[in-house]
Amino acid sequence: MTTEKSKTGGMLQRTSEEPLHVGRPNIGDRDGLMQRFNDLLDRRWLTNAGRYVGELEQRLAEYLGVKHVVAVCNATIGLEIAIKALELRGEVIVPSFTFVATAHALQWQEITPVFCDVDPRTHMLDPDQVEMRVTPRTSGIMGVHLWGRTCDVEALQKIAERRRLTLFFDAAHAFGCSRGGTMAGNFGAAEVFSFHATKFFNTFEGGAVATNDSALARKMRLMKNFGFAGYDDVVSIGTNGKMTEICAAMGLTNLESLDHFIDVNRRNYELYREGLSGVPAIRFLEYEEGERTNYQYIVIEIDNDRSAASRDEVMNALWQQRIMARRYFYPGCHRMEPYRSLAPHDAMLLPRTEDLVQRTLVLPTGTAVAEDDIQFICRFIRAAVTGT
Ligand SMILES: Cc1ncc(COP(=O)(O)O)c(C=O)c1O
Repeated sequence: MTTEKSKTGGMLQRTSEEPLHVGRPNIGDRDGLMQRFNDLLDRRWLTNAGRYVGELEQRLAEYLGVKHVVAVCNATIGLEIAIKALELRGEVIVPSFTFVATAHALQWQEITPVFCDVDPRTHMLDPDQVEMRVTPRTSGIMGVHLWGRTCDVEALQKIAERRRLTLFFDAAHAFGCSRGGTMAGNFGAAEVFSFHATKFFNTFEGGAVATNDSALARKMRLMKNFGFAGYDDVVSIGTNGKMTEICAAMGLTNLESLDHFIDVNRRNYELYREGLSGVPAIRFLEYEEGERTNYQYIVIEIDNDRSAASRDEVMNALWQQRIMARRYFYPGCHRMEPYRSLAPHDAMLLPRTEDLVQRTLVLPTGTAVAEDDIQFICRFIRAAVTGT
């Protein structure tokens, strides 16, 4: 609940002490969750090929319409496993406008993430720029589906085929999203979802790799369990990427509330869109009509030249009201270590990314945010940006 009173200068004040965070977890039916917790405790089966992980993988595969889903302990490990299983090496082209795990998953295996600029309209890889970043050392392209929208899969696929590169996707934001009627999870060689607590569908921590390639799925299943094919039988290199039963129990429970979470996100998105429309200094990132999406991020760009307050000033003012809006993906992976030191001139190649990290602001949504919170946030941003 938020209420407001006018202050000198027309400043709005939020009276609720409750902070509003970006990505505050959605939690499904508690009683159902507790029943599953009690069941797994009674059975004393906490991890390692448990019943709930198997059931979650099966339900996810059905929902996505994909042959294989390999549940993992988080998307970062999922990306590392996919990269290893796909036998990538040398260089892989990725956007810099992404969460740093996208790049780290490559660098961790001494594969160079080659940062590529994005389309300023979608915030995702610009295929023309990708083409220009291909070198003899390039082995793959990792597209990132941002915000609950899919990137230009078809154009990237064409480049990958022409240049004989492996295409796969960081789909951390794209669970429940479709492109041309096909669910994310079916594109490229593999797609990796995140079920982190901050994602609209969470398993506390968790993730999943989806693929239609049976041999790849088999390889990744071995890899997530140290390479064990059976008791005492290690047949490949591996790591510990297993999802626990308690996480899978959370996933199964939240899956039952998935439609509700999406409905709430959609309601919030429509309220924000309405509340922030008609402000020339604000660009509101809209979801594509006709596709399935999760509406999980409310993303605006503030034009620092046309706004009475800069993006950072707006963000700081929101924080004073305990509205914890976030800059994404500030300052860009290419400006974080070790990439900043390894490729110090990348900023010159990424003008659109450089611009976006100064303009983008992500606002709270999800089931923890009420309708009047959103109305307050919109009025507040509108007043700050228009200087009224
Ligand atoms: C685009 C992107 N990739 C990868 C990750 C890593 O996911 P996880 O936290 O499940 O390891 C995230 C998580 O926030 C993300 O937003």
